[in-house]
Amino acid sequence: MVILGIETSCDETAAAVVRDDRTILSNILVSQIPGHQPFGGVVPEIAARSHLNYLTPIIKQALDEAKVTLEDLDGIAVTAGPGLIGGVLVGVMTAKALAAAQKLPFVAINHLEGHALTGRLTHDLPFPFLLLLVSGGHCQFLEVTNVGCYRLLGTTLDDAVGEAFDKVARIVGLTYPGGPALEKLARTGNSQRFVLPRPLKGQVGCNFSFSGLKTATRLMAEKHTPLSEQDKADLATSFQEAVIDCIVERTGNAFKMLQQPVKHLVVAGGVAANAPLRARLSDLCEDRGYIFVAPPLELCTDNGAMIAWAGIEKLKLGHQNTLDFIPRPRWPLYELKNTI
Ligand code: KG4
Ligand code: ZN
Repeated sequence: MVILGIETSCDETAAAVVRDDRTILSNILVSQIPGHQPFGGVVPEIAARSHLNYLTPIIKQALDEAKVTLEDLDGIAVTAGPGLIGGVLVGVMTAKALAAAQKLPFVAINHLEGHALTGRLTHDLPFPFLLLLVSGGHCQFLEVTNVGCYRLLGTTLDDAVGEAFDKVARIVGLTYPGGPALEKLARTGNSQRFVLPRPLKGQVGCNFSFSGLKTATRLMAEKHTPLSEQDKADLATSFQEAVIDCIVERTGNAFKMLQQPVKHLVVAGGVAANAPLRARLSDLCEDRGYIFVAPPLELCTDNGAMIAWAGIEKLKLGHQNTLDFIPRPRWPLYELKNTI
């Protein structure tokens, strides 16, 4: 089975061709970062127009690089939400047109499910597993028992972790997208210099809260304005370490909330690209007897391969969608079972 996957829900226009033996035949991506940088974040209208410009050539490139034609495909999978709806519509309309013209199965993928199943594309990973999904818009623990079966164990009470990274990055003078830049800056800092809170530490459950930590970082920055380069690096690393402490502590609690005999912790989403976070989670898993699974960096952030793979998983189970599927700007993972 060979599937084309299309991703246009945020600021990356992506298309990939993946085979059901887990071979990624192509994985093409155009980042719109330069177009959004002057505004400090993603502008939905600019994103939608860029997707429109880039998507057709990117699909062509993905097919060419995979050495397949539309006739060789067994289906088309596309992110149909959640995300910036203008961009999602560009992807979904393109996928529907291709599916209709080629008479191919059309699969509407929840973007979060794309992240959630990436571990099964990159590793020989059985169900059930514990998923920590950490991205720009989401921060949650899910017990994954099958394709489409997600039990929410905890989520953020305020900001998503990627959002907190991006905001603190701006406080220390870094441009969008802040997460990777903050990780780099943090390497030269002293994490002991600024004492920052660990919200919810010691409390039951595995919810998150990052807005208090973000505010504490901002107040600390204001107290030391104008910030020297060393101040910025020290703030970046102090913030990053506080976030990681919170995530590690919450993961310990999430293990206790599992109902199934879970052996694996899988991390997914853009923030899963953060090396110190991966190292600490790996240590925790070793301590507690779990196997830690982290996709390669380029498959943590948004990409087309994860959408193609989610399409393969669904088609194998006989799930596909009709061409009147309505894209969903909001689409929580734990509602998925009701929609397939
Ligand atoms: O999954 P993703 O590519 O898009 C969404 O679906 O949100 O995640 C993007 C988020 C951004 O907030 C970005 O700053 C963050 O992931 N991110 C990182 C790193 N790489 C990306 N945060 C911390 N460290 C990183 N290395
Ligand atoms: Zn994402």
